[in-house]
Amino acid sequence: QQFFTKSSRFEGKRVIVTAGPTYESIDPVRFIGNHSSGKMGLAIAHALANEGAVVRLVAGPGDYVIHSDRVQLTKVQSADDMYAEVERQYTDTDIAVFAAAVADYKPAEVADQKIKKTGESMTITLVKNKDIAAEMGQRKKAGQLNIGFALETENEETHAKQKLEKKNFDLIVLNSLNDKGAGFSHNTNKITIFNREGQSMAYDIKSKQEVAVDIINAIYDLV
Ligand code: CTP
Ligand code: CA
Repeated sequence: QQFFTKSSRFEGKRVIVTAGPTYESIDPVRFIGNHSSGKMGLAIAHALANEGAVVRLVAGPGDYVIHSDRVQLTKVQSADDMYAEVERQYTDTDIAVFAAAVADYKPAEVADQKIKKTGESMTITLVKNKDIAAEMGQRKKAGQLNIGFALETENEETHAKQKLEKKNFDLIVLNSLNDKGAGFSHNTNKITIFNREGQSMAYDIKSKQEVAVDIINAIYDLV
């Protein structure tokens, strides 16, 4: 399926795209995760590759059908794994797109053996994961671009703008859940993109492939 015209706007650009959920182990058979499908990140990776970029897709658990030899998939499990992989590549990257739904917390300890059912309730202590985007935001050098995502259920615009600042993103893509059929586990998204000049652009609800093209057009304005 080709939703867009092949061009070479991103020829030679080295890109990292994070995508999908992360799974945080509780014991050898259980984890904490989320419903991210990774489809948005996958679509962005292909849209950029289609225009000449060399893309490393660092993706959490899920199914990713790659149909470009310019997209190289590295599968990871946890936020720590994703962090390590992104950190390893970041210095040599021109554009980093943080589309993953990284777990904010992980179990403080991973049990060696399957945890047995005992009491009437149980408590798992969670500790904060590293913030991959925020850390790479601190390392960002002139000429590098970091693009973030935000999914909010209240004060969308304020929260998105705060994340743009806090994580030193060049653009942030706000995913709206307000419209039916947008967001997680759907094939469509409704987005608004904010830049550092305080400008914003709201888009109609579209397929994730079409949204990916809107996003890379906004990135291209900064390249
Ligand atoms: N992100 C990341 N590493 C994390 C958490 C988030 O790289 N450990 C990235 C996401 O991929 C996204 C952006 O940061 O591009 C914002 O993620 P979000 O979950 O909306 O922000 P948080 O800072 O985790 O804030 P909260 O979940 O409390 O709203
Ligand atoms: Ca979060």
